[in-house]
Amino acid sequence: MSLCRLEKVSKNYEMGEVVCPLNKVSLTVEKGDFLAVEGPSGTGKSTLLYIMSGLLMPSGGEVFLNDHNLHSLADRKVTELRRDLIGFVFQETNLFQALTVEGNLRFAQSVGKGKKPDEAKIALFLEELGLSARRSFLPSQLSVGQRRRLIIARALINDPQLVLADEPTNDLDEIWAGKVMGLLAGVIQRGGAVVMVTHNSHWAACANRRYLMQEGRLVMNDKA
Ligand SMILES: Nc1ncnc2c1ncn2[C@@H]1O[C@H](COP(=O)(O)OP(=O)(O)OP(=O)(O)O)[C@@H](O)[C@H]1O
Ligand SMILES: [Mg+2]
Repeated sequence: MSLCRLEKVSKNYEMGEVVCPLNKVSLTVEKGDFLAVEGPSGTGKSTLLYIMSGLLMPSGGEVFLNDHNLHSLADRKVTELRRDLIGFVFQETNLFQALTVEGNLRFAQSVGKGKKPDEAKIALFLEELGLSARRSFLPSQLSVGQRRRLIIARALINDPQLVLADEPTNDLDEIWAGKVMGLLAGVIQRGGAVVMVTHNSHWAACANRRYLMQEGRLVMNDKA
């Protein structure tokens, strides 16, 4: 069973000018996989992650999560599947601005599979990501790097099997980036999978498969 499978997925955005960032992309992600996706800005890397998560439907081709074809599921089922399976590290911060740091994590737990608040786990994540002293702050009162770390905590707090991480080390210094990479490696160690979009070839080298987005295609990046 694969966690996520794309079969000849294409995506066109039609906003007057037609943009086709994905052209018949096929990809399988299984437990234990750590994939890196690199490529120039504007080539469709974020689009790829949105489609893998079911947040965006493709213009052509099929997307499977846990072997369920998303085309055959009602929207509500797709949402449930995503909630139970995926942790998404968004490239642009979309935290709840009216909730504190710990409030954002509590909210993520409340909509997660278990739906139970787990204060010990929140404390653990705050500690690991250096946010304990900022637990009562609002996102607007954090530094950019602290916000990035909160986004990562929110994506990981429900122990998702599949983590889709869009530039997770952006805005972080080497030490924090290294800690975040350690958390992603932990996802693999507990039997999950990670797909990471990155512009940083040093961190991409941690993956066991490296891809490059090139003219709508996902090509193996063996030369890296
Ligand atoms: N909602 C949208 N409507 C129209 N076009 C879009 C939309 N989202 C993305 N695009 C276009 O699709 C292309 C791919 O965008 P995407 O965000 O996937 O690129 P990216 O590889 O993640 O870039 P970056 O490295 O800068 O984050 C871009 O040319 C962009 O203009
Ligand atoms: Mg992007």
